[in-house]
Amino acid sequence: MERTHRCGDMRGDDTGEDVVLKGWVHRVRDHGGKRFVDLRDREGIVQVVLSPEETERFHESEDLGREYLLEVEGEMQERPEGTVNEDMDTGKVEVSASSFDVISESETPPFSLDNEKTDEAREELRFEHRYLDLRRPRVAENMKKRHEFFHAARNFLAENEFVEVETPYLTKSTPEGARDFVVPSRNFGGNFYALPQSPQLFKQLLMVGGMDRYYQVVKCFRDEDTRKDRQPEFTQLDLEVSFMEQDEFLQMMGDLLATAFEDAFGEEFETPVERITWQEAMDNWGSDRPDRRYGMKLHNVSSIVEGSELNIFARTVEEGGVVKGFRLEGRAGELSNNDMDDLIDYAEEEGAGGLIWVKLTGEGFESPVEDYLETETLRELIDEFDAEAGDVLFFVADEKPVANEVLGSLRRHLADNVFDLAEEAEGYELLWITDFPMFSYEDGEFGSEHHPFTMPREPEKLREADSDDEDALLQLDADAYDIVLNGYEIGGGSKRIHDPELQQKVFDVLGLSEEEVEERFGWFVDAFQYGAPPHRGIAFGADRIFMVFQDEPNIREVIPFPKSKQGHDYLTDAPSPPREDQLEGLGIEVIETEDE
Ligand code: AMO
Repeated sequence: MERTHRCGDMRGDDTGEDVVLKGWVHRVRDHGGKRFVDLRDREGIVQVVLSPEETERFHESEDLGREYLLEVEGEMQERPEGTVNEDMDTGKVEVSASSFDVISESETPPFSLDNEKTDEAREELRFEHRYLDLRRPRVAENMKKRHEFFHAARNFLAENEFVEVETPYLTKSTPEGARDFVVPSRNFGGNFYALPQSPQLFKQLLMVGGMDRYYQVVKCFRDEDTRKDRQPEFTQLDLEVSFMEQDEFLQMMGDLLATAFEDAFGEEFETPVERITWQEAMDNWGSDRPDRRYGMKLHNVSSIVEGSELNIFARTVEEGGVVKGFRLEGRAGELSNNDMDDLIDYAEEEGAGGLIWVKLTGEGFESPVEDYLETETLRELIDEFDAEAGDVLFFVADEKPVANEVLGSLRRHLADNVFDLAEEAEGYELLWITDFPMFSYEDGEFGSEHHPFTMPREPEKLREADSDDEDALLQLDADAYDIVLNGYEIGGGSKRIHDPELQQKVFDVLGLSEEEVEERFGWFVDAFQYGAPPHRGIAFGADRIFMVFQDEPNIREVIPFPKSKQGHDYLTDAPSPPREDQLEGLGIEVIETEDE
């Protein structure tokens, strides 16, 4: 018989109607001679009542077990008074079954599908049987939200004249800075394709090819250790446009997210989305992806503590460094001296020479440096932070970048690991971070902060600088931006270089030889000799977006078929050894190493 409704759609608007449902047995309870079956499908759960009086072959329902798939025919009715379940979307109605059929029987499932919460302990079992896990309402909801987001985004992009174009998966290494997954070639023995870390180079070629506005919902592959917000195989909403400057582009991308977030998650965002520069983010929050919802803004207190009796403060300022700090509100009573020692260790591991703390108590203050902190200085510090009894102030004295980064890490550590500040913070905050540095510099070598095709804010300054002029090059800002949602980087992009000479300059700075450039990117840079348009783009990390809005503790929960921390596929048991004949065909021999 044809299905008339989905279980979860029954809201009581059509009581009295005859219905045919197909769904899985979520739970069975016997009560008063009747049998109550919670029947579940993608849209939710509805109560079905089987009774000897109303239901044909009632006696056969005795054997119904969990996850049996049923067809039920019956009448949708209002529940009798006193039995309405306000916690259930379908709690006002039930289906009085006139007949039922078992479509498929089921083994007892290896874990409970009852649980609304994410059961991390059973993760391996759940992912091994992901097809069962997908039946859990929470997981089904995550999948539907993915769809709703992409659907809304596609609508917005189509309205704004973007075309969806696919780019290859079997390709050459792309420059996103992670390790590649490689695929051996049979026809070109000894050669490998690389799976793309992103469609970066292809989308730029689409601009050279005149596509003007491109987007794609695309898989990206990066062989890096996973974290709670990282998977080796993840999905980007990837975009590129020609002839658009930063202001208009960020505005449009903010509108895109606001529209899709409202459609998919029912959350409203103000546009234009606020923008701060990378330098502001580092100075005020010590992070390029700050979660500002829980406060603890960094303050530079150098002018207050200069000349202080506390030598480390006075000396650091004198030597051109800074003293910076933040206020942790109302937690003084929850941090013992041992806890404080742990925090000092943490700060030192993050690269600070030390960490100074001041607890404000009802009577005065407590601090390892209390003998050196003058009353007047302390009063000024309290004023600066608007601090009250119960608060703790933390300070780092160092060169500015170190003080910023250490305080930024400590702030995040307190919010994520010591207390649940991020978890408890309300609402959602979107924030653009613009003007990232163009280059990084480590061990005498320059690296790209975004990727080597990123345009500087002031191209002339790059043209004029010598390729080894550290001071000039490290001062350059890139026309690059990230977007941050509640402390997660959910997207990043930049304007690209479309002038071959300027591109060559970047390669020079990065120390890439002509041969290396030719070998790795020759196919790409050649294109820029043929009338390349100015262009820019961005990629959004879609899985991260779903993780935040669906309030999941791990990105795995929102990915249909996720991988373990080590990149193991629980379901198929990939990766697995190739067959002998496959290796032979590929001309590959596997060498066993000692640790295997
Ligand atoms: P980027 O490397 O910053 O930029 O990636 C863009 C966004 O993708 C998400 N992301 C990830 N999500 C889950 N697991 C991962 N392993 C992972 N790695 C990245 C993040 C990130 O912000 N081609 C450029 C974009 C451009 O310049 O247009 C790129 O890929 O949310």
